[in-house]
Amino acid sequence: MKKLLDLISEEMKKAFAEAGYAEELGRVTLSNRPDLCEFQCNGAMAGAKQYKKAPIMIANEVAEKLQGSAVFAEVEAVMPGFLNLKLSTTFLKEYIQGMRDADKFGLEMPENPLTIVIDYGGPNVAKPLHVGHLRSAIIGESVKRIAKYAGHNVIGDIHLGDWGLQMGLIITELQERQPDLVYFDDSFEGEYPEEAPFTISELEEIYPTASGKSKEDAAYKEKAMEATFKLQNGVRGYRALWNHILNVSVTDLKKNYNNLSVNFDLWKGESDVHDIIPGMVDYMKKEGYAHESEGALVVDVKEETDTKEIPPCMILKSDGASLYNTTDLATIMERMDKIKPDYLIYVVDKRQDLYFEQVFRCARKTKLVNPETKMTFLGFGTMNGKDGKPYKTREGGVMRLERLISEVNEEMYQKIIENRTIEEAEAREIAKTVALSAVKYGDLSNQASKDYIFDIDRFTSFEGDTGPYILYTIVRIKSILNKYKEQGGNLECVGLQEAVNASEKALMLELTKFNAMMETAYEEIAPHKVCAYIYDLANAFNRFYHETKILAEEDESKKAGWIALLVLTRDVLETCIDVLGFTAPERM
Ligand code: ARG
Repeated sequence: MKKLLDLISEEMKKAFAEAGYAEELGRVTLSNRPDLCEFQCNGAMAGAKQYKKAPIMIANEVAEKLQGSAVFAEVEAVMPGFLNLKLSTTFLKEYIQGMRDADKFGLEMPENPLTIVIDYGGPNVAKPLHVGHLRSAIIGESVKRIAKYAGHNVIGDIHLGDWGLQMGLIITELQERQPDLVYFDDSFEGEYPEEAPFTISELEEIYPTASGKSKEDAAYKEKAMEATFKLQNGVRGYRALWNHILNVSVTDLKKNYNNLSVNFDLWKGESDVHDIIPGMVDYMKKEGYAHESEGALVVDVKEETDTKEIPPCMILKSDGASLYNTTDLATIMERMDKIKPDYLIYVVDKRQDLYFEQVFRCARKTKLVNPETKMTFLGFGTMNGKDGKPYKTREGGVMRLERLISEVNEEMYQKIIENRTIEEAEAREIAKTVALSAVKYGDLSNQASKDYIFDIDRFTSFEGDTGPYILYTIVRIKSILNKYKEQGGNLECVGLQEAVNASEKALMLELTKFNAMMETAYEEIAPHKVCAYIYDLANAFNRFYHETKILAEEDESKKAGWIALLVLTRDVLETCIDVLGFTAPERM
């Protein structure tokens, strides 16, 4: 379906042309004086010079041509030459009826859907998830859902950190604690046990211990590096142990991401490209892209137009070990080979900005990607506490994701049971759903690149620009619809009607913005636009609700028209929260 602004611009352009002026002048925008009109056109002002005429004269002539237009109820030429516009209620009703009957409320699907890989999440195996991982998961999931909704083939890949020194550290610490484990016996040739020799909580304690030790003890670090080397070179026992670490950790990660309604299509990791790295390195050398520099292998990526220093991209360290860059480049190579994406999006902390600039340039220069392959780094800011510093626990430690979520759940639960009787199990369930909306909306309503303050009190509030406010609005609509059904009404049989009052028309106008908004949210990779839209829509609905006695209305067809409008509003809101990655309860 065409966007409403395009449709009314067409009508306006026709009028400009009929009055003898250039068509382009007829572009219509939303009004910046909503107290006076709904839309406006400033074309007469823009054309005054060219036609050597007072703008108001042009505006008057154009307004004349629009008398009797089926699109506008009012076209007013006002000094010094604005055209103030109000939409015809019939036209408006037809437009939202079209939305209701169309697939995806009339959002136009791309002629050539793109294949898009979204790299997000990026947790490191055996390290507990902390708040730093929350943003990548929340934003990435929403970007993925928006792109899917916009009609593209989208693949979300978690890109696990499962291959570096951290694995060697864990293995070293395990060996210190349990030197007799069969994995460390070089002469062992049998089958390794199926059961891992540690639990997830042990694992999560082992890593920080090992990491701490390696910083103090050079010999320990040396051992860890050797263990990493042995692992990467395929020593059987080390590989078997690594498999255990991976399995135990991934099981736990899946549980955590599940609780956040975050789902990955691919659970690939850095380790998956280990075997293709030598081939990639040879290729880069052979084609003359990579050269040696102080013993290391690098690709120069600076460009003449650079205003800041962009260091070379290091492919191999002087000891021949691969790096973070190497695995990212090899992953690009593999994705191009297996998935053939048109577009790669990385949702990672914005402090990795320069790093991704190097990686993207290197991938282009070495032709790992096609010239037309798009690569975008969506860098996000830090989640801070009220003190403006990265969010911590009350005791000042790193905040684990599980703890954060359970604290918000508890806060929400207290609010849900306040002043009423409700079954504990139901209250817990509702609290979980609403808490997720609080956390996700609190994050997504900010532009991703900005830092934001994680404020539990504000995020969990039922009022203001919050997730719970949006859910509360949806639940309110659902409850009216249920009562309508109890009164014997049938939601299938209701038809939209022309707006009879101002707040109703305002709600309809808000609904019409859906397709343009979703298109922009996709193109600009901007979930915050979806948040801003549903906040406006929820406000428009609540204004209408407060001014209208819907269920008490005696005129049945009028009532049915309002109910139809509610159904559409609910559906649009639910679609939007779905692309944001959360859902609404039936009641709250
Ligand atoms: N594991 C990395 C980290 O913790 C993030 C991975 C981001 N994705 C990527 N393709 N490099 O910093």
